Amino acid sequence: MSEKPRLTVLGTGYLGATHAICMAVLGYEVLGIDTDEAKVAALADGRVPFYEPGLPEMLRKALDSGRLRFSTDIAEAAAFGDIHFVCVGTPQAKGSPAADLTYVDQVVSTLAVHLTRRCLVVGKSTVPVGTADRLTEMLHTLSPAGTEVELAWNPEFLREGFAVEDTMRPDRLVFGVSSPWALSQLESAFAPLLEASVPVVVTDLPTAELVKVAANSFLATKISFINAMAEVCESTGADVQQLAESLSYDPRIGGRFLRPGLGFGGGCLPKDIRAFIHRAEELGVGQAVSFLREVDAINQRRRQRTVDLVRSQAGGSLAGVTVCALGAAFKPDSDDIRDAPALDVARLLVAEGAIVRVYDPQAMENARRAYPDLHYAPSVAEAAEGAHVVALLTEWDQFRELDPNWLGEIVAVRAIVDGRHALDPTTWRTAAWDYRALGRAA
Ligand code: UDX
Repeated sequence: MSEKPRLTVLGTGYLGATHAICMAVLGYEVLGIDTDEAKVAALADGRVPFYEPGLPEMLRKALDSGRLRFSTDIAEAAAFGDIHFVCVGTPQAKGSPAADLTYVDQVVSTLAVHLTRRCLVVGKSTVPVGTADRLTEMLHTLSPAGTEVELAWNPEFLREGFAVEDTMRPDRLVFGVSSPWALSQLESAFAPLLEASVPVVVTDLPTAELVKVAANSFLATKISFINAMAEVCESTGADVQQLAESLSYDPRIGGRFLRPGLGFGGGCLPKDIRAFIHRAEELGVGQAVSFLREVDAINQRRRQRTVDLVRSQAGGSLAGVTVCALGAAFKPDSDDIRDAPALDVARLLVAEGAIVRVYDPQAMENARRAYPDLHYAPSVAEAAEGAHVVALLTEWDQFRELDPNWLGEIVAVRAIVDGRHALDPTTWRTAAWDYRALGRAA
């Protein structure tokens, strides 16, 4: 094998596209594969099919280097690659908390039949522990190269909105391997990051599979912990924001992921904790992670509590009340609306008879496609026109920087629910707004 292994990336969604682009920028020959022809055509043409700051520039750089190509032909990937990264999605299965492994199984089995020489398949997708064992078996059975094909696991921790940074300068790399050869392959695939002293944990396959769900479970627990404290604050007149700040100075606790509010959403945290509970139960250790059910329940309650606040500001009933909903994406700097708390709140408000006008700087198209029945406005001003209540649901900088006097001239009533603790209550109250936030006194 040449000094730098040739890489393929199977699945060019959020994770795969970022990985393929960044690895090409780092100097590797990369072939990105997807079954979606439109996605492949867009990427090959220099267009990133989702919103991610900095990624379009990186794609341009990678394409200009001549090291990055895209294709729909998996046989081409098998012929080209020394290392194949599996980056397809593992969404929540329909009607079940379990992860849907259809795409992982499909891509591995389709690749396997074309593998005629020694190579490494590397799982990056988030999967239930034990999947790697099953996939190893699948590769050995289906590949013409048999046991020459090895499997490794390299979980991915990138955050949307920081995908480039997290890929180019990750906190850590986890290499789950079952042979020294597999380890040497991963070391050559990540050589520039190892040279930059990124910490590496070398471990077995099940530990590597578990790291990702354990990390996301911890983060979800931290968010739900502070939101549980917000519930206590609500009934005592205490202030959860000041409580969180006071906790954050303890280095054992730390302030990150301790922001109270509407809670977590997105394509990872909610489905990962549910799939983890499900898998633990299958393994007979459900009790060990049963607290994650409560973490999920606390998180879901935030959405209803936000609706309660809006209703109370509207005087007890939402029927015929116009609400300006600021935000649709599950978090700022993303156009991702998977399990977005903001859109859940919008729909709950509509169910109670409110007229909701949604505005988001980037996620409008995705939101409209998923929920065509909601009203969408092309700007903050148009969403706020004549509104009785404003609900800030995703903390985009554009909303943080809103001028309360300017907005006050547009709305019918100066009432705002700050679902993300993104605004300064004093500034808004001084401008004659009735400012409310979860876990803070009225
Ligand atoms: C997450 C993990 O952070 C990442 O490591 C993993 O690879 C994928 O899942 P992501 O889904 O992009 O990343 O979003 P993240 O930044 O983790 O935020 C998740 C959710 O938690 C968002 O809805 C965010 O609004 C919410 N959140 C985050 C809070 O409510 N409070 C906080 O303090 C932090």
